[in-house]
Amino acid sequence: MALVSRITGTGSALPAQRMPNADLVAMLAQRGLDSSDDWIVDRTGIRNRYFVGPDEQTSDLALRACVAALEAASCKASDIDLIIVATSTPDMVFPSTATILQHKLTLAAQAKGEPGAAGGVAFDVQAVCSGFVYALTVADALLRTGTARRALVVGAEVFSRLLDFNDRTTCVLFGDGAGAVVLEACEHSGDGPAILATDIHADGQYTGILCVPGHVRGGQVVGDPLLRMDGQAVFKLAVGVLESTARAVLAKAALTESDVDWLVPHQANIRIMQGTARKLRLGMDKVVVTVDQHGNTSAASIPLALDCAVRDGRVRPGQVVLMEGVGGGFTWGSVLVRM
Ligand code: UT7
Repeated sequence: MALVSRITGTGSALPAQRMPNADLVAMLAQRGLDSSDDWIVDRTGIRNRYFVGPDEQTSDLALRACVAALEAASCKASDIDLIIVATSTPDMVFPSTATILQHKLTLAAQAKGEPGAAGGVAFDVQAVCSGFVYALTVADALLRTGTARRALVVGAEVFSRLLDFNDRTTCVLFGDGAGAVVLEACEHSGDGPAILATDIHADGQYTGILCVPGHVRGGQVVGDPLLRMDGQAVFKLAVGVLESTARAVLAKAALTESDVDWLVPHQANIRIMQGTARKLRLGMDKVVVTVDQHGNTSAASIPLALDCAVRDGRVRPGQVVLMEGVGGGFTWGSVLVRM
């Protein structure tokens, strides 16, 4: 019988430090930059974001999200044979944050007298804000071919480390966080829970509109190590590709917009989400929105939003959820899931 993959647990984590618009606006004012809560809310929908402290790494946020997801799935670290971390803010240049996370999961399990997760597959996926959708697509493929049985698929970011706090056009948009799902292979069973279809794309001609151009060479950071963005170019491209990938993934699953119970889009800007929902003829009451509370957490934003909606009871078993991401690269894609 054919294998499919299904989500059996979700989890998320945020750093302790809340940064409401008022605090950020005050910080910008100290640098001589003018902004306001009204401007940020009106143009983006963001009211708050969270920033990590100096000793907190991407893998720390990822660990907390994974522990919550494992608990929700009634699994242990030793049940996991595949870890994929979507991130553009890895702990180190190498090894992957996924391998660091695997070891932290092992240490946490051993502290409880349980076996760890060593020996499974672990790697990172770098597709910026589309990273979680890319990672879920890769994990689904590996589970359906029997390469792995049970995966942790994680989006985790510390974007605050890439922000230029002298650039008001970008630093108000992003925050830190992590989200994770446990994905399990199971035999296909009619209308049972499963990833129904996936659809991912990239177009490298748009590298320059959203990037961190610097790199490490000979012990030095060469070039600009901070996030640079042409916001309007990103906005225009995003609205177009989010509609096309949503239609493509629905067509692959032989479903239509009316079959979608929840749209869980990348949380970049409320106006992009409203535009996408309008094009898909979905009411905003079917869109999970967390950008107001978390800001844009890049690869973490979709699993963070999904976990919030699962835990507050909006997303329920049997419902059809359309997740879609868009970001630097330019990359975009979607995953259609029956929960
Ligand atoms: O994961 C994908 C990541 N990126 C995105 O999704 C970004 C997509 N783009 C956007 O969300 C929007 O383009 C922004 C929110 C970045 C900007 O909104 P906008 O409506 O495109 O504004 P704008 O760039 O046209 O700027 C309008 C004005 C400008 O002033 P002038 O030139 O009209 O005098 C900006 O300098 O707003 C000014 N401005 C600000 N004012 C107060 C820019 N940033 C700020 C700020 N506070 N923080």
